[in-house]
Amino acid sequence: MQYKKYIIMKKYTRWIGLGLIILLFILQFFQINKTNPKVKPEEDFLAINKTEASTAKLIKDACYDCHSYETKYPFYTYVVPLSWWINNHIVNGRKEMNFSIWATYSAKKADHKLVESAEMVLEKKMPLKSYLIAHSEAKLSPEQQKQLSDYFNSLRTSGSEKADSGAKNEKQEDEEDEE
Ligand code: HEC
Repeated sequence: MQYKKYIIMKKYTRWIGLGLIILLFILQFFQINKTNPKVKPEEDFLAINKTEASTAKLIKDACYDCHSYETKYPFYTYVVPLSWWINNHIVNGRKEMNFSIWATYSAKKADHKLVESAEMVLEKKMPLKSYLIAHSEAKLSPEQQKQLSDYFNSLRTSGSEKADSGAKNEKQEDEEDEE
């Protein structure tokens, strides 16, 4: 009796396994869109701020794959459904903050993103841990974390921000909420 059950189960497992393989095969036809929108140098964070080379390299290596239109797509971004998960990071990362369209941000929004970036780097929340598995060049040493967060902080314009009228600030906040 027990043995019979085992045979039946084995039969099912085989069909389920085959089903999964076929499903994975079919899924490969649903590749993510890997075309980067064109970058306008006059809107790019590093270009506008004429970021010094060593800091620029850190930011490019650690942030630009998810927070810009200069995403690099390695071979494993061709493997569905892994690529869907990666693409989700890129889409949400750009939505939160996109260094390629930095010039389009209001002073208030840019200032806010700078504070957040400095914090995220110091708290080791960015770059995302999962990203580091395949990107050793994005791993930041404590010195590099400090270098980056100091740099983000140095670009802040909060002094002039506080002088802004309340009405203007509210309007800008609304803009931010719409995103
Ligand atoms: C692997 C993709 C990836 C990398 C690399 C990455 N980020 Fe992010 N980032 C995200 C995603 C996705 C979000 C959206 C929020 C979330 O899911 O945590 C985000 C959100 C943010 C936010 C907004 C946080 C908030 O709560 O408002 C900031 C600021 C940020 N990232 C800064 C950085 C900086 C600075 C770097 C480089 C040192 C970096 N990120 C590297 C994917 C990434």
